[in-house]
Amino acid sequence: MKTIIAASNNKDKIREIKQILASTGFEILSLDDAGFAIDPDESGQTFEENALIKARAAFQIYKTYVMADDSGLSIEALNGLPGVNSRRYAGPGASYADNNMHLIENIKNSGSENFNASFICVIALIEPDGKELLFKGECKGVILQKPRGENGFGYDPLFYIPGTGRTMAQMTDEEKNSVSHRGRALQKLKDYLLGAKT
Ligand code: IMP
Repeated sequence: MKTIIAASNNKDKIREIKQILASTGFEILSLDDAGFAIDPDESGQTFEENALIKARAAFQIYKTYVMADDSGLSIEALNGLPGVNSRRYAGPGASYADNNMHLIENIKNSGSENFNASFICVIALIEPDGKELLFKGECKGVILQKPRGENGFGYDPLFYIPGTGRTMAQMTDEEKNSVSHRGRALQKLKDYLLGAKT
């Protein structure tokens, strides 16, 4: 069986990646599973750049199929922030709860009544011959002023999707994967992998 190294230290992302790619016939190994740690400097200005930085760092070690996800939240009232800084929005080492509080405060302070937001995910895949591919997914929603729900991770308790009547944290993993930015990007990657195998 072919292996893909998923170059992430985020257990929440790895869970979603493994769920969606389970039926591709590829074995998905996290950095942890592979017994290795990398923590490249995510210095890119875009999700695309950062996904490639992480995937290339893993490819230098593994020279097999590697993939990396870079993702985050873009808020209309904050001109697209926190964007690529979503993980560290409330400062280095910020918890998910710290970031959520910081986001609610900043939207309040902006004075805007526009709560529209998008989650964005870009996945970089590098194949054993060095070919690089990008897959992008987006999910539109609205930011709530109070968290709702216990599932998921990160900004999920604040990210409400009007069509579903729930936040991402009120969904099961399967429901979230069917509408989320990561789910959409991974579906494109999955279609590519299934096509590449035949
Ligand atoms: P990255 O590890 O630099 O890609 O940072 C991603 C950050 O964006 C995470 O730490 C979360 O704060 C946020 N994020 C990305 N995807 C999701 C999601 O599916 N739900 C909630 N927050 C997310």
